[in-house]
Amino acid sequence: MTNYITTPIYYVNGEAHIGHAYTTFIADTMARYARLKGDDVFFLTGTDEHGQKIEESAKKNNMLPQDFANEISKTFKDLWDSLDISYDKFIRTTDVNHTKGVQKAFLTMYKNGDIYKGNYSGHYCVSCEAFFPQTQLVDGEFCPDCGRETTIVEEESYFFRLSKYEKKLLEFYESNPDFILPRSRKTEITNFIKSGLNDLSVTRTSFSWGIKLPDSLHDNKHVMYVWLDALMNYITALGYAEDDTNMKYWPANLHLVGKDILRFHAVYWPAFLMSLDLPLPKHIGAHGWWTKDGEKMSKSKGNVVAPKEVCDLYGVENFRYFMLREVPFGQDGDFSKRALIDRINSDLGNDLGNLLNRIIGMSGKYSDLHIDSKDVLKYHSSEFDKTVEILSTLPSYIDKLQLHKYLEELWKVFSIANKAIEEHTPWVKVKENKTEEALATIALVANILAKASILLYPVMPKTTSIIADTLSFSIDTNSYELLIIKKGLLAPFFIKKTPPLFPRIEDEVDIEIESTKKDTVKTELKPQSDDGLIEIGQFFQTSLKVGTVIDAVEVAKSKKLLCLKVDLAENEPRQIIAGIKEFYTPKELIGTQVCVVANLKPAKLMGLVSEGMLLAAKDESGLSLLRIESYKKEGTTIG
Ligand code: MSP
Repeated sequence: MTNYITTPIYYVNGEAHIGHAYTTFIADTMARYARLKGDDVFFLTGTDEHGQKIEESAKKNNMLPQDFANEISKTFKDLWDSLDISYDKFIRTTDVNHTKGVQKAFLTMYKNGDIYKGNYSGHYCVSCEAFFPQTQLVDGEFCPDCGRETTIVEEESYFFRLSKYEKKLLEFYESNPDFILPRSRKTEITNFIKSGLNDLSVTRTSFSWGIKLPDSLHDNKHVMYVWLDALMNYITALGYAEDDTNMKYWPANLHLVGKDILRFHAVYWPAFLMSLDLPLPKHIGAHGWWTKDGEKMSKSKGNVVAPKEVCDLYGVENFRYFMLREVPFGQDGDFSKRALIDRINSDLGNDLGNLLNRIIGMSGKYSDLHIDSKDVLKYHSSEFDKTVEILSTLPSYIDKLQLHKYLEELWKVFSIANKAIEEHTPWVKVKENKTEEALATIALVANILAKASILLYPVMPKTTSIIADTLSFSIDTNSYELLIIKKGLLAPFFIKKTPPLFPRIEDEVDIEIESTKKDTVKTELKPQSDDGLIEIGQFFQTSLKVGTVIDAVEVAKSKKLLCLKVDLAENEPRQIIAGIKEFYTPKELIGTQVCVVANLKPAKLMGLVSEGMLLAAKDESGLSLLRIESYKKEGTTIG
């Protein structure tokens, strides 16, 4: 089955922010899910490069529009590549084939009488690239969508007979109730149409940065209206100009858009397609808008969040999970680092990560890492059935783009697994010589994790592939078929040891290392008795070791942090992120010995995992590392 999924094409007047990343993450998730099911997917994204807005932005930057577009378009493409977006094609509206396709469509609509020449007189919002009749303006001059001042346009123009399609459009929505998702947005569109559709001006003459009309019309004063040009990308990308075989992907299954551009996609686009005698897309999904700490993002406020920065600090997939889980599809959402960190530590670290760690630990202790599903149904049929039942409801959520609900339901199976461990306490069963039962619980949890990872894969492809690798299987159409559709169990396997997937994030961005130390001291070595003294055993709960620094570099963008590699005579050197940059250079540390707190839970600082802490003393004159008087072997215990 073909399945064509698109994002909007992004204007090249500025770099991407998290709103753009959101649409793209949803589209990528939908594309990966469809591929997993075995669909023949075509996933399109790209950039929208013509129009008055881009022409003006280029001028402000003293650049030619094409050079300006090349530069910004590349930043979008590079960003999507660095965020692992699995697009099949990245279209640019300045591509030659796109231009040809738009001209072909224009001529077809002209020839069938749907485009005619006239004069336009009215208001135009350059930022929204949209025309508005006087009656729709706020205070007679401001754009009803973005609030900016509009300009008066009076020029010769070609018009598209939008009014002709009023009835046909209303009938179409009526017989396709899931055309607009969420369904709640349909009324706003039907009301817009019922208030009367004017014919749409589809060319401009007062600037030149756009696609020229087809040569056969001999009218080179005009360039195409940027929205006609842009919407056509969905068919030109498939080779509409040359009747390419990729046209087999048409009609699109899903156009993903923000709520602000729903009207263009749900009214103008279907009308153009009706005029071209092409089938209409199956769904237009309109998502809400993201704000930052409760405020609208804007360059002037300086609060625009760059997706790359967030991903570098917190992980692409953790961020994807956060965005898709945090906000019901269609509603507005707010981005704050606190909310993101909480989701990572709680949902990902506690619910999912710990589950994996627990079965690695228990299978290591009780069955030499071997896991066999043979007794799962004997001891755990109710937990297994409940899991399978929940998982079977998930497609209905994703099909309606309710990704938050999809993830919410998916998380219920992690709680079944966590509860099974707590209730059945395998460690007690082993002591009671009921090893078969204990191993069945471990195998149940492994199976739940495997099934859930497959369904989490579209949202977190790399993370879930690591989980699958730990459980010795791969996520693909076959395992989807076996473990999800056929509700099967894992064949016997050996679990692989994997480091924790979601190290706890201790604080926001430029974390103060000193305060982390204080917190650690408070929680780890809190005196137990009233006199403030501790038992010797309490002191020895802290593992202190001698290590040799074998590498040291500065942490980018941090005033305080160095990233060290410290040899503790373990399999791998430890990575330790230390707040000592103001007092030591990387060079003077390499080859020297340090005292390391070696049994701290890993923490993330500035996006880097720290697997220990250095002992140091600090007063008003500065900071000194604690050193061993003479060389001691790496890994030697201090105490
Ligand atoms: N070029 C047009 C789309 C043409 S599609 C044939 C356009 N480009 S845009 O760059 O301005 O916006 C692209 C998408 O980003 C839109 O879907 C828009 O809704 C979305 N977002 C822009 N700011 C946003 C937020 N703050 N939050 C969420 N999405 C936002 O419109």
